[in-house]
Amino acid sequence: MATMTWTRRHILSLEDFTTTEYEAVLQTAASFREVISRRTKKVPALQGQVVANMFFEPSTRTRSSFELAAKRLSADILNFSPGTSSLTKGETILDTAKTYLAMGANIMTIRHRQAGVPQAIADEMDRLKSGVSILNAGDGVHQHPSQALLDLFTLTNLLDKDNPRLELLSGKKMAIVGDILHSRVARSNIYSLTAAGAQVHLAAPPTLLPRLFLDLVSRDNLYLHWELQPALENADFVMTLRLQKERMSNNFIPSLREYHLHYGITRDRLKVCHPNVKVLHPGPVNRGVEITSDLMDDPNLSLIGDQVTSGVAVRMALLYLIGSSKD
Ligand code: CP
Repeated sequence: MATMTWTRRHILSLEDFTTTEYEAVLQTAASFREVISRRTKKVPALQGQVVANMFFEPSTRTRSSFELAAKRLSADILNFSPGTSSLTKGETILDTAKTYLAMGANIMTIRHRQAGVPQAIADEMDRLKSGVSILNAGDGVHQHPSQALLDLFTLTNLLDKDNPRLELLSGKKMAIVGDILHSRVARSNIYSLTAAGAQVHLAAPPTLLPRLFLDLVSRDNLYLHWELQPALENADFVMTLRLQKERMSNNFIPSLREYHLHYGITRDRLKVCHPNVKVLHPGPVNRGVEITSDLMDDPNLSLIGDQVTSGVAVRMALLYLIGSSKD
């Protein structure tokens, strides 16, 4: 388990995450990966603490893995569903959070389609001097820190299972392809991967990767391409992103077929990558649009299943680091 003293109360963004914090998450997740490979997968680390999963937007992976992670740490769980909650009667999000606070929640995981909602709840919890921690589980197009941390763990774990650490990614080339404009996953991954010293190459049509993106997310070792080939050449890893139709207010692409023709990841297109290239996708996937079905299901090329598996150990690590610092 990581030996550093964890001081961060909320995890809202990776923009200001330190190298020490990344390493602590990787080491702690490695310990929990070992724990959950045992017959008895539970530890009493968060016994008596209450984790409230407040998902105002749909989720399968993030919500379920935060729930499983909290259960494996022996926390008590409150699961919130907006459709059957008092939100439908006009209760505000902040009043909903304060209701969970009054029930004794110690940690709240928040997903919302609007950027900034986890920050607003964190500010309110701090104003009330509640001591509650907020974990951003994905807010609009802003950030998805736990996804980028599980991606980091998946990659470093692949390179050294016994000691996943940042330096393993130094100099590696990662191509991130697809709907970057609407992707909180891309924004968080840009921070974590460049912090590890990786070269990050973004590729998308200009409508989904405007030049001003560099003003929003400016980092060394970050490159923009409006064609796929230069991003894929010699890439060690290719992360393909879902076309987020629910966040698109305009016609950003001529058609899904056209998009696949120019930017879809196929077995043939990977031939210009490093011979050991691996493909990632945060999910959910539009099969046959951003990636072909056969590639997605190929265990020699696809890390998509590993990403989901890593999600439990990484979210255990985040809950543990934040929860145990409360003691
Ligand atoms: N990757 C991700 O956030 O997936 P879910 O929307 O299913 O949680």
